[in-house]
Amino acid sequence: MQELKFTFGKIRIGDAARKRILESLDAHWVSAGKHVQTFEQKFKNHFNYHEAVAVSSGTAACFAAVAALYDFEKSQADEIIVPALSFVATANAVRAAGFKPVFVDIDRKTLNLDPSKIESAISKKTKAIQVVHTMGKPCDMTSIMNIAEKYHLVVLEDCCEAHGASYQNQIIGSFGLAGTFSFYAAHLICSGEGGMVTTHDPEFAKLLRSVRSHGRPDGTDYFQFDRFGFNCKMNDLEAAIGIEGIDHFDEIFKTRKKNLLQLLDQNRDLAHVFYFLTEEKDEVISPHAFPLVFRQDIAVQSSHLYHFLLEHGIQVKTLFGSLPTQHRAFSYLQHRLGEFPEAEYVGEKGLHFGCHQYLTPEDIAYVSTLLHEYVKKWI
Ligand SMILES: Cc1ncc(COP(=O)(O)O)c(C=O)c1O
Repeated sequence: MQELKFTFGKIRIGDAARKRILESLDAHWVSAGKHVQTFEQKFKNHFNYHEAVAVSSGTAACFAAVAALYDFEKSQADEIIVPALSFVATANAVRAAGFKPVFVDIDRKTLNLDPSKIESAISKKTKAIQVVHTMGKPCDMTSIMNIAEKYHLVVLEDCCEAHGASYQNQIIGSFGLAGTFSFYAAHLICSGEGGMVTTHDPEFAKLLRSVRSHGRPDGTDYFQFDRFGFNCKMNDLEAAIGIEGIDHFDEIFKTRKKNLLQLLDQNRDLAHVFYFLTEEKDEVISPHAFPLVFRQDIAVQSSHLYHFLLEHGIQVKTLFGSLPTQHRAFSYLQHRLGEFPEAEYVGEKGLHFGCHQYLTPEDIAYVSTLLHEYVKKWI
């Protein structure tokens, strides 16, 4: 295998971030401090969120948002609906906070929760719907908010892959009670590791600050523990890097979006082989990555294309698969293969690779040529 020339993401730390890191080092303070506060302020102002609470990862963001629900008379063994297909952290956060994840199938064309399948999964114990805007594509928030209203459910939005995406001119992460973000290397804003929870509710923001700091009242640091909590605070070194991502967000978004659109354009003639992302008029997709799913009449295993791309230097990943039936981690729920046909299909037939801002037009053309070569030879 040749060296990977086309990766999911790349982190480049610029002069402003280096200066902030040195400031922290010189001040002998690298836990949560002034850079974290600036990062939160800038994040909420840039995207127009009411409140932003920084945490140590996207997983921690999902966990804190779910764990904070205990203050709303939710109890352990209550159920939270999650998509069957997502990065595992979404469902793990539900499980870690003590709730039962109830999986609902997705739509293979959007990769998102299928709203028409939600109602049959709702029980007396259901307290929340945790949606995921997979691969930067916004969920159908009109249908989801209607269902949530009908059954009095909280909506949480996992926006880890969808920085800056919007639905009907509204930024995602502002529909439900909370939006959760990851700043790991593959994401548009990157801080090494890191996460954020946004909310329109100042009282919920207070709970989140408490949960990220062991359940102390509003995050103050003395030995009073008011609720279930954890240590998942972001530190100043991570915030020092993340601030740069917000300062350059618009350029990063534009460049990645150009890459995503070029990939879609250059591979349009392969639409008989793959389902590609489609951007509807009322949404803005965040350019997180480039997913593709083999159509059903194509008798090729995605692992074949996976190895072909990898051998040609493209870092490629599957599209997660069905958490309840294609991963052992959720076997305790005793689901059987076949219960989540769309998620299972995408698990078998889907792949994705990066479209990050440091890729060149030659890189984009190279991967498109490879896809064409593959189709010509094998399909
Ligand atoms: C949908 C989703 N949720 C949660 C996470 C977890 O984020 P992190 O890796 O920062 O913990 C990710 C990570 O990429 C993700 O894609």
